[in-house]
Amino acid sequence: MDVERHEYDVVVIGAGGAGLRAAIEAHALGAKTAIVCKSLLGKAHTVMAEGGIAAALGNVWPEDNWKVHFRDTMRGGKLLNNWRMAQLHAQEAPDRVLELEEWGALFDRTNDGLILQRDFGGHRYARLAHVGDRTGLEMIRTLQDHAVASGIDVFMECTLRHLITDGQRVAGAIGYWRQSGGLIAFGAKAVVLATGGVGKAWKVTSNSWEYTGDGIAMALEAGADLIDMEMTQFHPTAMVWPLSVRGILVTEGVRGDGGTLKNSKGDRFMFKYIPDFFRADTADTEREADAWYEDKKNNRRTPDLLPRDEVARAINTEVKAGRGTEHGGVFLDIASRRPADYIRRRLPSMYHQFKELADVDITKEAMEVGPTLHYIMGGIRVDADTAAATVPGLYAAGEVAAGMHGANRLGGNSLSDLLVFGKRAGQAAAEYSKRTPAPRADDAQVGAYAQRFAAPFERGGTENPYAIHAELQDTMQELVGIIRRRDELEEALARLERLRARAARAGVKGSRVYNPGWHLALDLENLIAVSEAVARSALVREESRGGHTREDFPKPDPEWGSKNVVTRRRDGRLVLTTEPLPPVPGELRALIGDDKPGEKVATGSEPAIVGGKE
Ligand code: FUM
Repeated sequence: MDVERHEYDVVVIGAGGAGLRAAIEAHALGAKTAIVCKSLLGKAHTVMAEGGIAAALGNVWPEDNWKVHFRDTMRGGKLLNNWRMAQLHAQEAPDRVLELEEWGALFDRTNDGLILQRDFGGHRYARLAHVGDRTGLEMIRTLQDHAVASGIDVFMECTLRHLITDGQRVAGAIGYWRQSGGLIAFGAKAVVLATGGVGKAWKVTSNSWEYTGDGIAMALEAGADLIDMEMTQFHPTAMVWPLSVRGILVTEGVRGDGGTLKNSKGDRFMFKYIPDFFRADTADTEREADAWYEDKKNNRRTPDLLPRDEVARAINTEVKAGRGTEHGGVFLDIASRRPADYIRRRLPSMYHQFKELADVDITKEAMEVGPTLHYIMGGIRVDADTAAATVPGLYAAGEVAAGMHGANRLGGNSLSDLLVFGKRAGQAAAEYSKRTPAPRADDAQVGAYAQRFAAPFERGGTENPYAIHAELQDTMQELVGIIRRRDELEEALARLERLRARAARAGVKGSRVYNPGWHLALDLENLIAVSEAVARSALVREESRGGHTREDFPKPDPEWGSKNVVTRRRDGRLVLTTEPLPPVPGELRALIGDDKPGEKVATGSEPAIVGGKE
């Protein structure tokens, strides 16, 4: 079949915040750059970071600085973070926010005309620059305008599915136009993956249809390392009712602006769930927390704003104990704490979302909320300074990359991550493209991929891709959810194996012209591959830390706290090892504080194979 061909220095796959920022940088450095996105330009999970972008600007709390932001990020990540990424992120986030403002982003303001900052979970100071509850949207709008005005080539509704390689290095990527079904291949000296996460593997998720783990699966297939795939984030607050909107995000900004969580008995249950690690930072009586809400002078924060992993687990426990709402959530109440005009001004999207989708007026009634799969902290292993993956010519930034957030991401740290590491990835990819000869995109490889694209039409299979996807989502939701157990993870892996076999028999009818059944049949391969990496890594890590809770290993373990779980694909199979974390230098360790959850400094021991099928 004919394959449309293009040649670039740098191809950026994904057009959320990280992809756009990477493309802007690569283009500005003179690299011939293309952005390729699966959806319409501007439709990205970045917009789901509603409440703000974290940066230690010090506009509301002059005490704030990068060192405190670094501390909060490392503690929130339960010290599994790549310390260098956390350092660069905290140091560079303020400049990236100010740059966004120069490019036209209109942030909310303090009375003095500075960028206003709001409270969010796990951040010691009010640190999130925001635009009401539409911050991600404003960020995308700004970056998109900047990229288009710069003249960067954009290929929309174009799904890239496989990396093309030249020996050990990346040489481009191949995929298809969603509308015509025609194949398209890019030759490139460098590829930046910025495809986001894999939320669509779970049933209850804030992610939309695009998030099928494409970049992670492509990197794995090309031989790159993944790390800590077991670290998934369930955002504590999403809509739970009506069922058709279950999983849609309710921004943490509601709690940042005064909302409190209550169970069906009316108790503010979060006071029961303050872990020792955060006790010194957290108000442990309602009176103390209320004082914080009212004047923010008390530096001990409300437990409603503990990091997301803590809050999601607490909600899960309350519901399981029979103290949940009628529809299996808990109550989030801002109406009794803030005037209606304040709520409508600060949280306009939440107001409309509940009014239109659930017929609930949040200025008068409490919302019903529960956890939703929102983000994955694990992903492609990258070099902190350059965002280079472990395969030459491949770079990764944003959610698809791992390390920055450790075992749990703080809210608001994703938007700043996208900008800091998007810029770094674009710069490194452009510089690499200047010093590297054009790779050869091998025709035989392109031909083999073209056959794989055709297979769902040609194999005459009887399995329905939609049914397989629904079973995958049930499997991940039930067996690889907030709380995990060995027997359930093993059952998940057995089911994934059966789903993989069925997906290989998925049949598609009709033509290639806008055929979503065909697209899903192709996406299933990625969804299942990445789900397997998550379940295997979850089985390997025998402790509880951040986004990974094992009922059978309920505590953090100092040994595990100093290791990454590494996943590689070798001879068509996943092989898992553990490797020591890079040790945190002394002066940065001092910033983090002493009361560390089961931490042990990496010793540099040899990697050990602990899972997989070798
Ligand atoms: O709750 C939120 O607004 C989400 C923010 C984030 O994921 O960073």
